[in-house]
Amino acid sequence: MGKQRVLSGVQPTGNYHLGNYLGAIRNWVEGQSEYENYLFVADLHAITVPHEPKQLASDTYTLVALYLACGLDLNYSTIFVQSHVSAHSELTWLLNCITPLNWLQDMIQFKEKAVKQGENVSAGLLDYPVLMASDILLYQADKVPVGEDQKQHLELTRDIAARFNHLFAQPDRPVLKLPDPLIRKEGARVMSLADGKRKMSKSDPSDLSRINLLDPPDQIQYKIKRCKTDPIRGLTFDDPERPECNNLLTLYTLLSGKTKEEVAAECQDMGWGQFKPLFTETTIAALKPIQEKYQAITEDKSYLESVLRDGREKAEAIANQTLAQVKAALGYSTPL
Ligand code: TRP
Repeated sequence: MGKQRVLSGVQPTGNYHLGNYLGAIRNWVEGQSEYENYLFVADLHAITVPHEPKQLASDTYTLVALYLACGLDLNYSTIFVQSHVSAHSELTWLLNCITPLNWLQDMIQFKEKAVKQGENVSAGLLDYPVLMASDILLYQADKVPVGEDQKQHLELTRDIAARFNHLFAQPDRPVLKLPDPLIRKEGARVMSLADGKRKMSKSDPSDLSRINLLDPPDQIQYKIKRCKTDPIRGLTFDDPERPECNNLLTLYTLLSGKTKEEVAAECQDMGWGQFKPLFTETTIAALKPIQEKYQAITEDKSYLESVLRDGREKAEAIANQTLAQVKAALGYSTPL
């Protein structure tokens, strides 16, 4: 039996931070040899809210370079850009026409984002989950690593696939595979440095709320110095009254490679004045190899381009095959 296929993506919206790394990219890297991985930059999703054209291409390249710098290995992983494979847009149209409108209107993320956008809600924002379903279904993915916030979209993907198969495929010969979520043991939920109850976020207006993967050491030091703590001595995990403390200890655990028990013992009598320098040093050391590799990769633009050319070819080979099957099932004639 071949390896199972895993597919996932991240939007190119700048400010890649520890939450993106510890919550997503590092998990892909750790599991990559077990699976056949398709990992992409979701640049079509990035324009569902207002965006800056000058920024889009550079954020896309930065993200690809970071994927590689974080340790994605091209022997196991195909890296590509969503907009380079036109089948994503095309399948989205086809699936749009079999997706009931109220399924999309019920999506929690749509409702939340729509409120934030006010007057400015595009049809694309509503359609976002159909594009995401197309991303996944084109590759007949077995598993999709998703965080809490994307689970509902994966459910919807399964519903769309099931509906398509029901309407247009023979019962014993489904056209689209229903993907399963890939759930990791210790879900690393990385919280904001300014508020331990909110997620660390790319879009938080305060840069002090997050540690970005490309922050230089003095900035990391400054941010940790300024981050929110509490006046209690002795640091503990899992105290609901101390969300910041739990978050910082969790980050320290993940970045140091120590176990939770080791960190709990090490820090139980510490005050913040002792913990912060230790945490700073650990964070800087953990990011250093990534930053060095990132520098080397971005200095060689032709290398990045060859990675993406290769990625696009491999991705297209699979995506175009699924698209052709979908079109045939819907009754389209083959172009002459
Ligand atoms: N919507 C995902 C996010 O913002 C990104 C994404 C787009 C994705 N297409 C996907 C993730 C397909 C997994 C599979 O996090």
